[in-house]
Amino acid sequence: MNILIINGPNLNMLGLREPHIYGTQTLDDINNELTAKYPNVNFTFFQSNHEGAIVDALQSTVRKDFDGVVLNGAAFTHYSYAIRDAIAILMIPVVEVHISNIHLREEFRRHSVTAPVCVAQLSGFGSDGYSLAVNMLLSYDKKKTV
Ligand code: DQA
Repeated sequence: MNILIINGPNLNMLGLREPHIYGTQTLDDINNELTAKYPNVNFTFFQSNHEGAIVDALQSTVRKDFDGVVLNGAAFTHYSYAIRDAIAILMIPVVEVHISNIHLREEFRRHSVTAPVCVAQLSGFGSDGYSLAVNMLLSYDKKKTV
């Protein structure tokens, strides 16, 4: 099983960034936990502060042999139609993750333009959301329709 984990802007600052909202773990801590927890999964970790680089990473799954994507698009979640369109192209499941509960926060965070083209959205589970998303991908039936 090959899973791509994509993290968007400012998530490279986890640990320092608003710890009362995002916790004290760094992105490396979260990624290392995933690697340790799922030894049979081949993870590729990607983080970028740039919208186009995230579009490129999503597109790369078409040529490479990925089975699923976990995406925390961060602020792009709320307005990036380019990322939404890139997800819509894919034949593999994409799970959207947010560390915080975006529905309990500012109005602009409550709407995701990417969630409608993802198979699920996990929001408010803290960093455990990444692991829950991987779990979901491991049991995801590709033939399932929504
Ligand atoms: C976030 C929530 C977004 O609104 C915010 O812009 C982020 C992080 C989260 O993980 O809770 O950067 O995606």
